[in-house]
Amino acid sequence: EKGGFATFMDKEIHDQPKAVADTLLGRTDDAGRLRLDEVHVDEAVLRQVDKIIVVACGTAAYAGQVARYAIEHWCRIPVEVELAHEFRYRDPIVDARTLVVAVSQSGETMDTLMAVRHAKEQGATVLAIVNTHGSTIPREADAVLYTHAGPEIAVASTKAFLAQITAAYLLGLYLAQLRGTKFTDEITDVLDDLRGIPEKIQRVIDGAGRVREIAGWMADTSSVLFLGRHVGYPVAMEGALKLKELAYIHAEGFAAGELKHGPIALIEPGQPVFIIVPSPRGRDSLHSKVISNIQEIRARGARTLVIAEEGDDDVLPFADEVFRVPQTPVLLAPLVSVVPLQIFACELATARGLDVDQPRNLAKSVTVE
Ligand code: F6R
Repeated sequence: EKGGFATFMDKEIHDQPKAVADTLLGRTDDAGRLRLDEVHVDEAVLRQVDKIIVVACGTAAYAGQVARYAIEHWCRIPVEVELAHEFRYRDPIVDARTLVVAVSQSGETMDTLMAVRHAKEQGATVLAIVNTHGSTIPREADAVLYTHAGPEIAVASTKAFLAQITAAYLLGLYLAQLRGTKFTDEITDVLDDLRGIPEKIQRVIDGAGRVREIAGWMADTSSVLFLGRHVGYPVAMEGALKLKELAYIHAEGFAAGELKHGPIALIEPGQPVFIIVPSPRGRDSLHSKVISNIQEIRARGARTLVIAEEGDDDVLPFADEVFRVPQTPVLLAPLVSVVPLQIFACELATARGLDVDQPRNLAKSVTVE
């Protein structure tokens, strides 16, 4: 059942191209327009939505954080992402024009379920993005958009994360289409780009020899930091979470821009730091800002492990290691750039002799608050 892989996690990492492709499948009509037939919410209600709040925990919340950049850009609707267990305790401002999106692999996470109930009580429309059919959260939500990642057995989430981002992007594009935003003309292009993602993920997996090798040498590392910006920021957080969960190593993700506001004090000679470099084709000079960050930490002795697009040679002078990902439109980049981080955590845990499928103290679905 592990399909020839040593662990479920390794198998599920390799399932990712299919998880994304299957989540995209059958969601457009012959004319190429998005059709989310399962979303039985009155279109008039969706046209009136004036705020979206994503509620989720852990990796699913990072998928929400990634999606926020895309949905705000495409729909011009404000999006908040809230940890489900914090949501109802802050007396959130929710009404009939709020769309609450609950993201969950298992569909059973109690914290997320309680947030769904609270949102419904306040009159919000609740849409669930869930992987497990017949689970509780989609039953209680007003609508569900299933991710088609297939069963995820390893406790740490990998393919469900990519499928969650994909589904949330479909939702964002669907809302843009429905509301006729300025962005409408570009929807088909984004859908085409999304359909190209599975092949790119496959290339990252096939080319991951070096990241596996490096992880194998790092079994004695006591701390790893992760830096990213824009959509790379939640990717950094996810990379750190994977490493904590699987390898029991102290890990932290930061927004790269925050470095000089504190975290740079952590940098000492030999400190490994992953940096997720935005595309040089992106907007707003983010690329050069992150390159400067790499330079700053390298000058203080950090060991820089850089994830950068193919052809981005600006990173070379400051990178101890470069892990390449294919050129990808900015908003879709997390779907490829997180993959080396998953593989790194999996390999490092294996090098430490740990059980990557069943990390200590964790359960696959957390059905208590
Ligand atoms: C991370 C992980 C957890 C879950 C979180 C939410 O690898 O597995 O952080 O993502 O517990 O679980 P679901 O998505 O089932 O609600």
